[in-house]
Amino acid sequence: MRLMQRLIAIALLAVPALFAACWMQQPVATNAEKEALGSRLFFDKMLSEPDGQACSVCHAPRTAFADPDGAAVSEGMVDGAFVNRNSQSLMYVSFVPPLRLQPGTNAYFGGLFWDGRSNDLRHQLAGPLFNPAEMNNADTAQLVYEIRFANWKRDFNRCYDRPKTNEEKYNAMIDAIAHYEASDELNPFSSAFDLFLRGQYRMTPEEEMGYELFKGKAQCSSCHSLQPVDAAGHVLLTDYSYHNLGLPKNPSNPFYTTFSHLNPNGYSAIDRGLGAVVNDPAQDGKFRTPSLRNVALTAPYFHHGGVATLEEAVHFMVARDQMNLVPEIAANIETERVGHLGLSEKQERAIVAFLLLLTDGFEQTP
Ligand code: HEC
Ligand code: HEC
Repeated sequence: MRLMQRLIAIALLAVPALFAACWMQQPVATNAEKEALGSRLFFDKMLSEPDGQACSVCHAPRTAFADPDGAAVSEGMVDGAFVNRNSQSLMYVSFVPPLRLQPGTNAYFGGLFWDGRSNDLRHQLAGPLFNPAEMNNADTAQLVYEIRFANWKRDFNRCYDRPKTNEEKYNAMIDAIAHYEASDELNPFSSAFDLFLRGQYRMTPEEEMGYELFKGKAQCSSCHSLQPVDAAGHVLLTDYSYHNLGLPKNPSNPFYTTFSHLNPNGYSAIDRGLGAVVNDPAQDGKFRTPSLRNVALTAPYFHHGGVATLEEAVHFMVARDQMNLVPEIAANIETERVGHLGLSEKQERAIVAFLLLLTDGFEQTP
């Protein structure tokens, strides 16, 4: 009996002591914890209205975080609701600098999305989360309501110290997703080309020919830059500049036949790109130069996904002017460096062979 009493006394003292220890020991969440939480949000299909569409539905890991269905443009949570552009790879997106106009020129650089309309990975998220053609949430209140049912609720509250207001909760959610986007998983720098730059991969003669053309005669690297970017310490294969490549419309873009409240203009809709964002016709038809990292995984190509294969995309850059195409926007077309490169089929194939070296996760065969 004595023993029993003693045990009870110990238990009565120990429980509050344990509680106090946990309470005082509220650790500040590490980046790794926020990345892990962000990953769970990124793949959570409850974050759309109705449930069913996670970020990963349009940005899947196996296609370098671009659309996994090979769709030209992605279908939203509501059947028949389409956005007008091809889903971008989110790999290396955390290095995209804010949109800026180079002083003394009319050249723009940076900014998120194909047209640069957002400047911040956190702010950008309002796009997909509330876009009726994407995840279709009505407002922040509807979105944060999901937290109470989420299987990541505990980690969420721990990482962000129990956010209280809807705004605090929303900010915490988008912060976690942005941490995931900046994590090693989306920024591995593990392609054969990365190894090559460290002297650990030897190119085949064809790959080497493609590399020489890419930075030499074909001038690809004048936009898809081979200069290491300071923030990354690595090459990102883009200088984030904007150009109108003179692409024709993609006639099978389902955006032309989506609901009229999403596209009132049907087939005559014109995508002005950067021009609409900065409200300047001199920028019409221009889109941000994409990184070519993992480009082999992200078909179809260009801002409207109108080009099915990598071979065709390269052929367009090389030989546009012989292809008799009608550009969607005839003004401001880049005529100097694109479209008449005078390369042979063999040289085009070599460029494609080089681009295949840009896929992450390369493993050296012994
Ligand atoms: C319905 C498909 C769809 C869903 C769902 C979706 N996205 Fe996107 N995402 C796109 C498309 C399409 C674009 C390009 C849009 C444009 O340029 O106008 C894009 C662009 C982006 C960009 C800009 C990339 C760049 O290089 O500038 C980021 C970042 C992004 N999405 C993150 C997310 C996150 C995070 C989620 C989940 C909260 C999400 N997306 C959900 C289709 C989708
Ligand atoms: C004047 C700048 C410039 C030059 C030079 C250039 N590109 Fe591009 N490239 C772009 C822009 C801008 C886009 C996106 C255009 C769009 O979608 O409207 C693009 C898109 C691409 C795409 C499609 C990528 C995707 O994710 O959809 C490929 C592939 C590509 N370029 C390869 C090349 C190759 C190979 C060369 C050299 C033969 C080259 N580019 C030269 C600016 C350039």
